[in-house]
Amino acid sequence: MAATATAILHWNAIPVFADIDPVSYNIDPASVERLISPRTRGIMAVDIFGQSCNIDALRAIATKHQIKLLVDTAQSPGALYKGRHAGTQADIGGYSLNYHKHIHSGEGGIIVTNDDHLAERTRLIRNHAECVVQAASPADLSNMLGYNFRMGEIEAAIALVQLGKLKERVASRQRAAAELNAALAGLEGLRTPVVSKNCTHVYYVYGLHIDIDTLGVSRQRIAEALRAEGVPGVMTGYQNVHMYPLFQQKIAYGTSGFPWNSPYCAREVNYDFGICPVAEDLHTRTFIGLNLCMCEFQSSDIQRVAMAIRKIWGQLNALKD
Ligand SMILES: Cc1ncc(COP(=O)(O)O)c(C=O)c1O
Repeated sequence: MAATATAILHWNAIPVFADIDPVSYNIDPASVERLISPRTRGIMAVDIFGQSCNIDALRAIATKHQIKLLVDTAQSPGALYKGRHAGTQADIGGYSLNYHKHIHSGEGGIIVTNDDHLAERTRLIRNHAECVVQAASPADLSNMLGYNFRMGEIEAAIALVQLGKLKERVASRQRAAAELNAALAGLEGLRTPVVSKNCTHVYYVYGLHIDIDTLGVSRQRIAEALRAEGVPGVMTGYQNVHMYPLFQQKIAYGTSGFPWNSPYCAREVNYDFGICPVAEDLHTRTFIGLNLCMCEFQSSDIQRVAMAIRKIWGQLNALKD
């Protein structure tokens, strides 16, 4: 989860965290707009839990401020935005092929872009800024620091076969989510995932919002009850990345506070609890996620999960402190 933010630090830029939308859980364009400064170079959005962020709104902000839009689609391969694959409408989109994802090849990932210049730069970065571009003789390699980000042939071969399975993997998670939605409809204080306008959802995580204040039961008690009923993959909250020690202590390279104490960082960047109230409230109090991605759930499994949740909702009074 930290990868999206640390990727920014890897390129000597300083992450500034925007808040999320309380319903889609994706980055909130209004929060992004408020945080843009003359030093902002890009918007890095995540297509969280299985559906695209609001590309139109983010693109409008990026165009207005002449900055780039990057989208991390690690959790949403196969999701569509206005009928096109999530991640493909950014300046650069990125997918993960790690073991937790809809399709995987052990390790690896894919970058997509329609921009030839960015494509060339990413190919260079992948390969020590050398070799693969000799024929193309790029104009200027002077500030190119490449790495070995090459994907192995074997992983790539596995990924190609996996790609052929993506549609069915997505369809099976969509079937599971639709069954859960139907079975949980009408439970007081429980909001099942809402598919955003222009989007399809591929349910990396099936996110539940619990109205703790109305129900008067803590999330912890509900999660314990779910686990006791044998519901798999229950996650309480979703880590607020700005609360990681890396950001709290502002120590990334060495021990002296670089890069926040360098001349690159022209202003005080605040990572205090409170900067992203929506994300923080979801993480600390009101969000429960079900991991739908790691397994193929049969209809009978989903019905058992739904029955367990309905049973707990029938006994909420007993869970009150
Ligand atoms: C949103 C998001 N971005 C990035 C990553 C990192 O992907 P990888 O481990 O393939 O680098 C993950 C991994 O879980 C993720 O969920």
